[in-house]
Amino acid sequence: MHFSPLIVGTMRWSSWGAGHSERQIQNLVESCQELGLFSFDSADIYGGYTWEACFGNALSGMGLVRESYQLISKGGIKLPGGARPHEIKSYDLSKAYLLNCVDQSLMDLKTDYLDLYLLHRPSPLMDPEAIAAAFSLLRSSGKVLNFGVSNFSVQEFELIHQYFPQLSTNQIELSLTEPKSLMDGRVLQQQALGLQPTAWSPLGSYFSLEDEKQSRIKPELSRLGKKYDASEAAVLVSFLLKHPSRIVPVVGSSKSESIQKMARALAFELTTQEWFSLLELSRGYPVA
Ligand SMILES: NC(=O)c1ccc[n+]([C@@H]2O[C@H](COP(=O)([O-])OP(=O)(O)OC[C@H]3O[C@@H](n4cnc5c(N)ncnc54)[C@H](OP(=O)(O)O)[C@@H]3O)[C@@H](O)[C@H]2O)c1
Repeated sequence: MHFSPLIVGTMRWSSWGAGHSERQIQNLVESCQELGLFSFDSADIYGGYTWEACFGNALSGMGLVRESYQLISKGGIKLPGGARPHEIKSYDLSKAYLLNCVDQSLMDLKTDYLDLYLLHRPSPLMDPEAIAAAFSLLRSSGKVLNFGVSNFSVQEFELIHQYFPQLSTNQIELSLTEPKSLMDGRVLQQQALGLQPTAWSPLGSYFSLEDEKQSRIKPELSRLGKKYDASEAAVLVSFLLKHPSRIVPVVGSSKSESIQKMARALAFELTTQEWFSLLELSRGYPVA
């Protein structure tokens, strides 16, 4: 599957974040398209199950050619307190539930197909045969073009992959401040299969937690920002882009200026020394 160089995450455009109006969503989509960013990441639960209908209304009012943008959605989490009657938080990756989730996302997003559908979280009760059966049906009906998972361990990915080898990605948490998946095999597994890992929260905790890690990283990040004429956020994104597995960061800002600044990361490459110096500052110790 061919993503845009950065995937645009929409979670914080919803009532879970900025709560953008239809017009504001349209302006953001337009500015992303001007930057060459055409892959949009969503999930049924965003905004307590309200986001995809807002996004669908905004998109359908723009009159865009459907092939000019990609829609990524996720399902399988049952969230209480939202628009659906779930009593406790749980996961449901049964065939019937997934088929129903996709139909709902298609209806809300006002589209005939999703470019990519992800299992939002692994479930301890997941049955790979049922998942493969759901994916096969969704593929043959043309409702979903590509499939993947999110937040899966190496073993969990392997289990689904055995039954449905056409998986396109594992969308995982990955950033300079949360680099664990670079070391625990999740990124390597995607690389070995020739897949592009997709990385959510690419800025990690850098802007949200004023902790020791942030103070260690800050001077170097700001020095590199000056060197490359880029924002701190762009340098954080460039840390991911340096990886040879061709990680695609899923950027989550709700502001077009910030997305534009992060896209600057596509125009420069950190040196290997700079990459390791950032890793060392994040972890607080040098490599062995
Ligand atoms: N698969 C999963 O389980 C999962 C989990 C979480 C997220 N996601 C996906 O990943 C996407 C990205 O996640 P994320 O929102 O945590 O990503 P992020 O890009 O790491 O963080 C974005 C957040 O950082 C803030 N921020 C503060 N300073 C910033 C700066 N200088 N530049 C840019 N942003 C700055 C943004 O605020 P402003 O909005 O005010 O700019 C926004 O709240 C989500 O939209 C969602 O699509 C997936």
